[in-house]
Amino acid sequence: MSDSTERDALNRYSMHSATCGELDVARLGEQVTLCGWVGHRRDHGGLIFVDLRDRTGITQCVFDPEACTAEVFAAGERMRPEWVIAVKGTVRERPEGTVNPEMATGEIELLLSDVTVLNTAKTPPFALEDGIETDELTRLRWRYLDIRRPEVLHALRLRFEVTAALRRALEAHGFIEVETPILGRSTPEGARDFLVPSRISPGSFYALPQSPQLFKQLLMVAGLERYYQIARCFRDEDLRADRQPEFTQIDLEMSFISEEDILALMEDVLARALAVAGVELTLPLPRISYAEALERFGNDRPDVRFGLELQDVSALVAGSGFKVFSQVVADGGVVKAINARGGGRLSRGEIDRIADVATSHGAGGMAWIAFSDSGEAKSPIIKFLGEDVLQALKAALGVEPGDLICFGAGDFATVAAALSAVRLYLADLLKLPRAGHSFLWVVDFPMFSFDQQEQRYTANHHPFTRIKDEDLDKIESDPLACGSYSYDLVMDGYEVGGGTLRIHSEELQLRVLRQLGFSDEEARQQFGFLLEALSFGAPPHGGIALGLDRLIMLLGGYSSIRDVIAFPKTSSGADPLTAAPAAVGARQLKEVGLRLV
Ligand code: AMO
Repeated sequence: MSDSTERDALNRYSMHSATCGELDVARLGEQVTLCGWVGHRRDHGGLIFVDLRDRTGITQCVFDPEACTAEVFAAGERMRPEWVIAVKGTVRERPEGTVNPEMATGEIELLLSDVTVLNTAKTPPFALEDGIETDELTRLRWRYLDIRRPEVLHALRLRFEVTAALRRALEAHGFIEVETPILGRSTPEGARDFLVPSRISPGSFYALPQSPQLFKQLLMVAGLERYYQIARCFRDEDLRADRQPEFTQIDLEMSFISEEDILALMEDVLARALAVAGVELTLPLPRISYAEALERFGNDRPDVRFGLELQDVSALVAGSGFKVFSQVVADGGVVKAINARGGGRLSRGEIDRIADVATSHGAGGMAWIAFSDSGEAKSPIIKFLGEDVLQALKAALGVEPGDLICFGAGDFATVAAALSAVRLYLADLLKLPRAGHSFLWVVDFPMFSFDQQEQRYTANHHPFTRIKDEDLDKIESDPLACGSYSYDLVMDGYEVGGGTLRIHSEELQLRVLRQLGFSDEEARQQFGFLLEALSFGAPPHGGIALGLDRLIMLLGGYSSIRDVIAFPKTSSGADPLTAAPAAVGARQLKEVGLRLV
């Protein structure tokens, strides 16, 4: 919505004739009525200034005893922060020296002739202005006051603008929005379900959807061809800055498409949506395979805005006298290294803290070699490595004076996890520039992983993902070698979307479920409705879901998705405003057939 369409709309069917953000010198002499909240009030030798705020901005209002009745002036003297008032007045130029170039309305003020107090307000528990340092819990406790602050409102507006653009783009591509149930049945999809007890069938439970996955597939069987939904999803997982128990997906599904079609269409949709946030996408977006992402960055959601790539130096150190390295390679593990440019100047304490990051992410330790500005190598391991290996490492890693090599040694997954954490830590420590945004597709995830703890196969995306045609004969014989038609959208080191092509044959779906440890009976019990639907003419289909909260967090430069959600939960899953979750009375429990233990 353009500013002028928005303010025209707000001024229609309203008590006010103008908004607090729209007046400027082009409107001098105009008589207007504004409505809003009182911000700062200043008494200036006979004149009273009040900043009046609404969602569009702030207008300075002047009570001048020469221009209004004594009654109106007295009302001005009583004015307190956050009172809700309507004012009538004339737009005039601010006197010289009082112009505020920072404000859109900074060249004018409103000389008041009348004021109506629409409501009074208690003193707010914190200052309702930008840049305050009030703790988050307090802000969330009075979130409706927090949202009055322009910077908080800005986040909600950005979310609205991008969501609206996504809707327009999807509709232009023929997508129909369909709502799917919130009360569903529990299906093992990955995270823990939120359960809702049924009153009518005591002992039975609904589950809140972790995503509309199965319903959107059913809509493809139903012939919708292109579906989308701004879908609320619920997952009972441990919370982080980028995870909430309820969050929003831009969820979509398409029939009669290839992976190529989905990626290309999504790129177009994203380009249109991000343009409203002032972000220009260069298309096509880069793609790397899951295997390459792990190899080069140690994880499947790499931030590619800086280097510090992982390099496999196993072959170079295999025969060295440093037993930790040679033994790992002999045992089939890997030795990888990051050349942290400029890191050779870090103190011993700082290097120890890098090693702590590696160990806290599973590594047994972290070997390193620091190079002084004159190129001299310092490290407890050099005497074991030997000069030849040192020279070979320097050449392979392009080492220059002042650099620091950080090593990871062990099995591939452990080294990847440790060095990917080290990589991000180094980027902060060395203050590597990360301007702008990076987007890329990570594709070709293996279909299955093996969960060592549970001693069973799990699906990397979900059990409905289609296995690469050429790997269909390996489902039973070599599951870990099965690739899948799958893709994640990665932005600035975060997974902001993920999707797959789906299995559309009942028989194949059963084979995959068996591999995931379901007996045919269990599969029919849990997924019978899906299996049945697949047997009634399911078209080839696939889709994707974008994590809207994460996307907006990154676009707006926020550090948590809580900043872009109107009423988020705290990290302990609570809502400080309504005090949810809360105990319920014995009668309510009885009605749903529950007793607390
Ligand atoms: P997936 O589980 O990858 O895929 O979720 C899609 C995207 O949703 C976001 N996301 C979250 N955002 C905030 N809080 C959370 N707890 C949370 N969990 C996930 C992420 C993620 O990329 N049905 C499939 C999609 C499909 O295959 O079409 C699905 O839900 O940005």
